[in-house]
Amino acid sequence: MLSNLKPQDPDKILALMGEFKADTRQGKIDLGVGVYKDPTGHTPIMRAVKEAERRLLETETSKSYTVLAGEPAYRDAMAKMILGDLYDASRIASLATVGGTGALRQGFELARMGSPEMRVFYSDPTWPNHTSILKWMGVEAISYRYFDSATRGVNFEGMKEDLAKAKKGDVVLLHGCCHNPTGANLTVEQWHEVAEIIAKTGATPMIDLAYQGFGDGLEEDAQGTRIIVSRIPEVLIAASCSKNFGIYRERSGILLALTDDAKARDLTQGAMAFLNRQTFSFPPDHGARIVSTILGDEGLTADWKAELEEVRNGMLAIRAQLAGELRELSGSNRFDFIETHRGMFSRLGATPEQVELIKRDFAIYLVGDSRLNIAGLNTDSVPILARAIIDAGI
Ligand code: LMR
Repeated sequence: MLSNLKPQDPDKILALMGEFKADTRQGKIDLGVGVYKDPTGHTPIMRAVKEAERRLLETETSKSYTVLAGEPAYRDAMAKMILGDLYDASRIASLATVGGTGALRQGFELARMGSPEMRVFYSDPTWPNHTSILKWMGVEAISYRYFDSATRGVNFEGMKEDLAKAKKGDVVLLHGCCHNPTGANLTVEQWHEVAEIIAKTGATPMIDLAYQGFGDGLEEDAQGTRIIVSRIPEVLIAASCSKNFGIYRERSGILLALTDDAKARDLTQGAMAFLNRQTFSFPPDHGARIVSTILGDEGLTADWKAELEEVRNGMLAIRAQLAGELRELSGSNRFDFIETHRGMFSRLGATPEQVELIKRDFAIYLVGDSRLNIAGLNTDSVPILARAIIDAGI
């Protein structure tokens, strides 16, 4: 049986991680996988996370099973963080998941349970695992225009036109903030327009919120999601704690479903728990408990927010430095988009050949579509990348 298996294409982002590790050149620079690194190239454990773990070590008395949908304290705290004043327990079903990817997968599964013929509209481009999961599930996936490769901003007219083609029973997948892979984001006004269009089509929006706090701030990054939730009665949100709490390997994610009323919420909650049971039974708990410990304590929350701001502002400073270097080297402002983009990523708009050349000649690793992870840079490596970009003719 197993000898009948077909070789699977490796995930390109994860394959690049392996390639980088295997590169023996001194001074190599990893701008591939979306993991935050401090200026020394280390992915630290956040202070509040360490403290929460210390408290858990002292106070946790059992490792017995919790709840199939995950600890309620975690789910409530996350729902409040994401929804702010729109938090309304009578409308929210929630599910702790295995990371943000688990939330996406369970979200797609849930949507398909309610709408077996659903199609999923996704941004062009999008995080490659979105389309990979949908393909594996056999779900029809339709792209909508998003990135304008000339301006490196959003092709909003194209996006609106394409979104209008969705219909009731479809899912429209949106990036809540910090668009991955481009770094180009919607304005608040554009979010309102998108909400109007989706409301007209009757489709269900699903928001991938993997980078809350990495763009314009914790509240600001939730604004698009909240605009959608305040306009549309039924919304799915797949969020991750990997990046903003820096707990990548703990695999802490959450799926929220905003429903029409309490009856639909109960049905949805039951379906969600069922999905966890069929997939892995109880979700991982340690990361979720770290998060609820932090969010349930004023002092820890304040410290976590302060550190998250340090991380965010550090990335903004790198963006400004890189755009400045490139302005100088190119004698033009054609790279200013790097300063306008938000989140961990920017898409440079280079060809695969140019990306390859930068890897070969400078030992700088970008994802093949020319996505670069801003958090992989520091003040010393920015000029090296800027020089490489110009030398590669980008
Ligand atoms: C990324 O886009 O690099 C991250 O979301 C990590 C991943 O799993 O691909």
